[in-house]
Amino acid sequence: MTYQNILTENNNGILTITINRPDKLNALNKQTIAEVGQAFAAAEKDESVRALILTGSGTKAFIAGADISEFAAYTTEEAKELSAHGHAVFNAVEKCPKPVIAAINGFALGGGCELAMACHMRVASENAKFGQPEVKLGLIPGYGGTQRLPQLIGKAKAMELLMSADMIDAQEAYRLHLVNYVVPQDQLLDKCREILTKIMAQAPIAVSEIINTVNAYYDKNQDGFQLEINQFGRCFSTEDFEEGATAFLEKRKADFKSK
Ligand code: COA
Repeated sequence: MTYQNILTENNNGILTITINRPDKLNALNKQTIAEVGQAFAAAEKDESVRALILTGSGTKAFIAGADISEFAAYTTEEAKELSAHGHAVFNAVEKCPKPVIAAINGFALGGGCELAMACHMRVASENAKFGQPEVKLGLIPGYGGTQRLPQLIGKAKAMELLMSADMIDAQEAYRLHLVNYVVPQDQLLDKCREILTKIMAQAPIAVSEIINTVNAYYDKNQDGFQLEINQFGRCFSTEDFEEGATAFLEKRKADFKSK
C-alpha cells in the first residue's frame, strides 16, 4: 500500500510505522489518522508482521497533536465526526492482536500523547515531552485522552495534567508510569526491538490473548475475569500450547507456529 503521510518498514517481523510530517512536527491530520488505521488493518492480516513500533519522523517530535490548522473552523458536527474517527482508529491500535510499542522520540502532545497511550507499551527518548494542552485551545482531548490518561497514571494526576495543560518531561512520565522506559534518543528503536524480540519468542496466540484480556479490564462492557477463563481454555486447544508444554518437558526451546 502507498501512503502520503506515514512510512512503513518490516524488519524481521517488526513493522515500524513512522508518522512522516516532520515540518508540522508530525501533527495528525485526518489523512494521517486514516493511514494509521489502514496500516494497522493491513498489519493485522499480514502474517509476516509479528509486532509493531509506532514512531515519529525526525528528532524533535513524536506527534505534536492533532493538526490545529485543519480543525480550526470546524462545527460541532464536524468535530464529533473527527473525534469518532480518531476513536475508531486508536481503539483499533489498542486492540491490535500483535504487540505495539510507541517509540516516543520527542513531543507527544494532545493527539500524540493519546495515540501513544493507545499503544500497549511506551518507550521514550530522553528529550520526549508529554502533555494534553487542549484546554489552552478551549478544547478537551478528543482521541481518548480523558479516559486513557487516568487509566495509566491515576485520576488525580490525570486531572491535574488535563486541566493545567502542563508539559512533563520523560523522567516525570516514567515516574508517573506513563512510559515503560526512558533511553537516549539514539537507542530508542533498539530498546523497542529488544522488548519486542523477547515477546516474539513467546507463543503468538497467547500473546494476543494477553492483549485481549488485559484490555477487557478497562472495558466497562466486558467481564474480564470471565473472558480470562474462556481464553485460558482456548489456549489449551492450540498447537502452541502442546508445543510449549512438550518443549518444557523435553528441556528444549519451543518452536511456536501461531496455531
Ligand atoms: N497542528 C498543526 N501544526 C503544528 C502543530 C499542530 N498541533 N504543532 C506544530 N505545528 C507546526 C507549526 O505550526 C509549525 O509550522 P510552520 O513552520 O508552518 O509555522 C511547525 O509545526 C513547527 O512548530 P513550531 O511551533 O514552530 O515549533 P516550536 O519548537 O516553536 O514549538 C511546540 C513546538 C510543540 C511546543 C509547538 O509547536 C506547539 O505548541 N504545538 C501545538 C501543540 C498542541 O497544542 N497540540 C494539541 C493540539 S489539540
